[in-house]
Amino acid sequence: MLRRPRRNRKSAVIRDMVQETQLTAANLIFPLFVIEGNNVKSEVTSMPGIFRYSIDNLLREVETCLKLGLQAFDLFPNVDESLKDKYASEATRKGSLYLRAIAQVKENFPEACVITDVAMDPYSSDGHDGIVENGTIVNDETLEILAKMAVAHAQAGADIIAPSDMMDGRIGYLRKELDQQGFSHVSLMSYTAKYASAFYGPFRDALNSAPKQGDKKTYQMNPANQREALIEAQLDMQEGADFLMVKPALPYLDVIKLLSDQFDLPIAAYNVSGEYAMVKASARNGWLDERRATMEVLMGIRRAGATAILTYHAKEVLENRWL
Ligand code: PBG
Repeated sequence: MLRRPRRNRKSAVIRDMVQETQLTAANLIFPLFVIEGNNVKSEVTSMPGIFRYSIDNLLREVETCLKLGLQAFDLFPNVDESLKDKYASEATRKGSLYLRAIAQVKENFPEACVITDVAMDPYSSDGHDGIVENGTIVNDETLEILAKMAVAHAQAGADIIAPSDMMDGRIGYLRKELDQQGFSHVSLMSYTAKYASAFYGPFRDALNSAPKQGDKKTYQMNPANQREALIEAQLDMQEGADFLMVKPALPYLDVIKLLSDQFDLPIAAYNVSGEYAMVKASARNGWLDERRATMEVLMGIRRAGATAILTYHAKEVLENRWL
């Protein structure tokens, strides 16, 4: 045999030398849930090890993460049911939980990269990402609310705004509004190919944000479609997105690969709540090795072409020195 591929696997030194994909702390974005109150840290039942933090504890958590070398955070609010309405008005109210959280993280830790979520669902009494009129999620009227949210986040100090709503035209609409309001330096990380997925279940538990009626299939993508992601990506690129995101990650590695081959923008992937829950649940049952499974998942997402990975595993990976 002339070719013996095993020679390049014979020692740890050689294996490391020929390793094609690297994963570092710089690739990781940590999603964090914020909730009203003082000294609150409540675990999400379906996401062991992940908590909803009141702002005081959120600041402590961010500080701990920064010390571990984790520098990018994506914030999500758990909004009290009594504050939700049809137009998500709490989302843009001065002094709201979310806007305070963004501002306080940036004030205390200017070096942290704060990513904010734009979509109506945590604030909507309908539990949808856009306005619901007679059972339909209306697109263009929703854009105005999303743009107000984006500007409020920028005013509070957001570094990157991530619209997760899947309304048509929102990247261009938000870009224009942000530019006009003096926020041309604020980035847009578009949820470009966001699929109507079962894997968001635990996240909706965390925020109590599940749709009250129907599903999200008229705006989130059909899990059977790959080519359609190219249309979304072309539009986001033309409309001024700085990052293209694929979500969830594991069942859509082909889409991550496709977008990273076809577009020169950085690709982000969201390793979502249900993907985290799968690993945690099996590890807790002793059915797989937690460290190896977690690292294999993250490495697979990197290998497919994602530079930024939003993952609930981010902190434990650094805390346990798994990298
Ligand atoms: C909603 C939103 C969702 C997630 C992020 N933003 C859920 C949904 O679309 O219903 C899911 C994240 C996760 O599951 O970890 N705009």
